[in-house]
Amino acid sequence: MAYETIKVRKLNPALGAMISGVDLSQDIGNQTFQEIHDALVENQVIFFRDQHLTPDQHKDFGRRFGTLHVHPVAPGVEGHPEILPLHSDAKKQYAAAAWHSDVSCDQEPNMGAILYAKVLPDCGGDTMWASMHAAYEGLSDKMQHFLSGLEAEHGSEHIFGPPKNEKDKRPTAIHPVIRTHPVSGRQGIFVNSSFTTRIVGMKPRESDAILQFIYRHIDTPEYHVRFQWEVNSIAFWDNRSTQHRALADYFPQTRTMHRVTINGDKPFYRPN
Ligand SMILES: [Fe+2]
Repeated sequence: MAYETIKVRKLNPALGAMISGVDLSQDIGNQTFQEIHDALVENQVIFFRDQHLTPDQHKDFGRRFGTLHVHPVAPGVEGHPEILPLHSDAKKQYAAAAWHSDVSCDQEPNMGAILYAKVLPDCGGDTMWASMHAAYEGLSDKMQHFLSGLEAEHGSEHIFGPPKNEKDKRPTAIHPVIRTHPVSGRQGIFVNSSFTTRIVGMKPRESDAILQFIYRHIDTPEYHVRFQWEVNSIAFWDNRSTQHRALADYFPQTRTMHRVTINGDKPFYRPN
């Protein structure tokens, strides 16, 4: 793909690209927006260094890509419910350390998220992403065909515990195991070890064996990119084509990130 207003440097063949030549605090024009959008779909996760955004500018950038998600329970950054703070320190240790795509238990999981580094430990606290396109394309034709006919259930109660009150929801959803990307049409694996509970219509032992095989397959290093954060770095990932995990190796140091999350659509499978 040819880019005219931004520079795109691929980090790995499977996924990940560093974007430069753009100041996201400014109102980006339509051409630049389209190029960032295309770079995201093509590379599945894109990175920016040395960006200086106010919370409003962070949200404005996100809104170019869709409506913003407000977390139903977690409070946002002060005055900005659309900005989710992810914070760890000596008292509170938080890291989503298992592979997942965000809230795949929702009927319409997020399209993607824009994560902005505010405070970082001296070292550590990297994030990893895995390409679900590359993982799908690494399977044999027979396995691709077999998985393409399946659906899986995704839940959240096993992660967050039983609901504490009426408002406290624990969504579940059934999605195709192989998801077609709505923009590129590429196929990708859409089950993950955090939210997926079972493959529909199978005995538990069958479902477990297939899911464990997929999770081991996803763990192949050639499908991964690992990002070393700097303060003011941004990672923007496509939740439809990637999974990610946060490395929990820096406690009790402090790490604070701000996340803007873009609403998504219902996953589907369409044969090529
Ligand atoms: Fe996540």
